[in-house]
Amino acid sequence: MNPIQVLMDEHQRIESVMKRLSSWSRGLAGGEQDARSELAEFVEFIQSFTDTLHHGKEEEILFATMVERGFSRQQGPIAVMLSEHAEGRALTATLRVLSECPAPWTEEERSKVVRASRAFVDLLVAHIEKEDQILYPMAESRLSDTDWDEIGRRFELFESDAKNAELRRKIAPLITRLEGR
Ligand SMILES: [Fe+2]
Repeated sequence: MNPIQVLMDEHQRIESVMKRLSSWSRGLAGGEQDARSELAEFVEFIQSFTDTLHHGKEEEILFATMVERGFSRQQGPIAVMLSEHAEGRALTATLRVLSECPAPWTEEERSKVVRASRAFVDLLVAHIEKEDQILYPMAESRLSDTDWDEIGRRFELFESDAKNAELRRKIAPLITRLEGR
């Protein structure tokens, strides 16, 4: 396996759901019957696929290896990526609270949904571009073939971990539903 290709393929999936989230939030006009459960599905995708499975592999395996090979965790590209992951988690928490508040949304709650969705999509799209264009090429030029073999082996272990494998199975139909929206 090529670990960078795995991460970039996941980016494409995330971007395709971000497009759906963006158009969904722009289409909110009031009086939506299923808006809360629809938002809850986007939040579930973000927390399971984007954060647990994708950011999990980046933070626990790729970034950790880069730090072992001399990249700083406190400043520079890895620090920026980690702080953007944290910013994304805060926006996701806001979206989750909004998905759980009692129906119907007030005017103010609806505009919060639109603002937080837009902020999240903008953050993720720019973040993915930085990883694809800057961080991953830096990693490719600095890590050795042995490092990449080890990263690939650890990606496989991560994916076959019972909790992660179960999560991936559980969200497969959700991804199909979201991509068809
Ligand atoms: Fe990423």
